[in-house]
Amino acid sequence: MRAGRERIPDLKPLFDALNEHQVGVAPTLADLGPRSADQAWQRRRAKYEAWLSKPAAFLMIAEQDEQAVGYAVVSIGEGYDGWHSPEGIGDLHDFVVLPEMRGRGIGTILMDAVEGELRDAGVEHCRLRVIARNADAVRFYEQRGMEVVSHIMLGRLDNSEHSRARSDDAVASQGHEERANDRSSLAPRAGRLA
Ligand SMILES: CC(C)(COP(=O)(O)OP(=O)(O)OC[C@H]1O[C@@H](n2cnc3c(N)ncnc32)[C@H](O)[C@@H]1OP(=O)(O)O)[C@@H](O)C(=O)NCCC(=O)NCCS
Repeated sequence: MRAGRERIPDLKPLFDALNEHQVGVAPTLADLGPRSADQAWQRRRAKYEAWLSKPAAFLMIAEQDEQAVGYAVVSIGEGYDGWHSPEGIGDLHDFVVLPEMRGRGIGTILMDAVEGELRDAGVEHCRLRVIARNADAVRFYEQRGMEVVSHIMLGRLDNSEHSRARSDDAVASQGHEERANDRSSLAPRAGRLA
């Protein structure tokens, strides 16, 4: 069922399960290690507050015996510029079912409800990010007809002295070119004056 922002605190155990699953499949993202569960929740919770304060954004909670067993957080994001795309696309930020309840159709019901809500808002597409190593989730989305359309690349910048010197050189030579261009753009005027 659709729920308001006041339910965000109830999501903590479910978010913990999502975070645990994601860190489990990807203990590092490129070279980044995981945050503590509490830190991760504090940060994510602030994002939920921000997303859910936007127009047409929503929180969907699956409940069993009045207990939250799954949720989805959705806001409406921008369309694509290079493709014939509607202006609004449903951005599914997080989606999870409690571990002991997975594989029983709850995720399917939750996702059906998300899609229904988006359709009612006149939105035709749903978009999400999924960690490349989260193969089960990728399969779940693919079974629903979604496809991988982009890859997110992540890597730490080379911070060695050598690479710093290289980038300083690049900036310095760009400066030279700019000064040379300045001189050449001044030259004709000087010519005309002469
Ligand atoms: C992905 C997820 C929300 C699906 O919810 P669910 O209730 O397990 O899904 P359903 O029971 O409706 O559908 C099961 C399908 O989901 C897939 N699936 C993904 N993870 C699964 C799991 N742990 N157990 C069983 N099925 C899983 C399977 O492809 C399965 O299809 P199948 O029945 O043809 O084998 C849930 O498994 C989950 O919370 N996973 C961990 C968190 C996560 O990865 N979230 C997505 C982040 S982008």
